[in-house]
Amino acid sequence: MTLRTRLTERLGITHPILGAPMGFVAGGRLAGAVTAAGGLGILGGGYGDADWLEREFALAGNARIGCGFIGWSLSKHPELLDQVLAHAPAALMVSFADPALFSTRVKQAGVQLICQVQTKAHAQAAIDAGADIVVAQGTEAGGHAGSRATMTLVPEVADLLAKRAPDTLLCAAGGIADGRGLAAALMLGADGVLVGSRLWASAEALVHPNHQRAAIAADGDGTTRQRATDIARLYKWPDEFTARVLKNAFTERWRGREDELRAQAEAIHPGYMAGVATGDPDNVGVWVGEATGMIDAVLPAGAIIEGMVRQAEERLGSAQTR
Ligand SMILES: Cc1cc2nc3c(=O)[nH]c(=O)nc-3n(C[C@H](O)[C@H](O)[C@H](O)COP(=O)(O)O)c2cc1C
Repeated sequence: MTLRTRLTERLGITHPILGAPMGFVAGGRLAGAVTAAGGLGILGGGYGDADWLEREFALAGNARIGCGFIGWSLSKHPELLDQVLAHAPAALMVSFADPALFSTRVKQAGVQLICQVQTKAHAQAAIDAGADIVVAQGTEAGGHAGSRATMTLVPEVADLLAKRAPDTLLCAAGGIADGRGLAAALMLGADGVLVGSRLWASAEALVHPNHQRAAIAADGDGTTRQRATDIARLYKWPDEFTARVLKNAFTERWRGREDELRAQAEAIHPGYMAGVATGDPDNVGVWVGEATGMIDAVLPAGAIIEGMVRQAEERLGSAQTR
């Protein structure tokens, strides 16, 4: 049994798994490894940095990969979109902004447009923008997301796509870290999954080992959605999105005191960024989702993908037998 879906057909990949474009975490080595394992790796272009993008595309070698951006930030640096499209990526993914801002250029370049959405209204906007693939992202996710849960958002968006845009494919994201999650996502009506946190804890991810160790020690109860990490980094995120990180001394210090933090943000920023550079697990954000409770080791990305697919096939096979 192999998991062939409309996603594997459309993208010409072996397994229905996309590697999430985790900003500055999913570099060329990780994206290349996900593609080599039979999924599609997507570079984490994040807020956008021209030099980083060139370096990481080069590190991916000849692997066929995509690239993703944080949309509201990309809209301030539109030249980065042209820079990435010049690499002829397998897909261009945008999240956290109206995809209509970018869709014409992506589609003119003949590149698959992937739109990550957090609500049904966002999904409708993605359809209107001509998305080829919609990623329905639940609040379980690591990093930024909205407040809807994967379990209900995915089937709701599946129904919307079936009615309004049957050729648009659907991936589920948020809390999918093993074969059980992959199998469940397919049952909910998705054509595949987008995996972030599980690949964050991979050997190829650009993550400090202290942070990976903290995530392995934590469980799903140990994460929180909050804004303090963005305030300290001086990023102005739209109100509808919060960031999931591990609960630690930093998140607990500023819980409910965001206005106070905002007032001191400029002063706190240098110390915060120094903590990021040294991998301080207590005084900066540790960017992992509820899936942290299913992560007990840092593994090569290829082994993670292989294990997910094997377990999903087993689960789906035994469900058929039952
Ligand atoms: C460390 C980290 C960074 C992320 N950065 C981005 C980003 O820059 N752009 C984006 O669209 N999504 C980003 N995400 C969200 C992922 O695209 C994806 O929705 C999420 O990881 C899926 O949930 P999971 O973490 O439970 O697998 C990030 C997630 C993590 C964990």
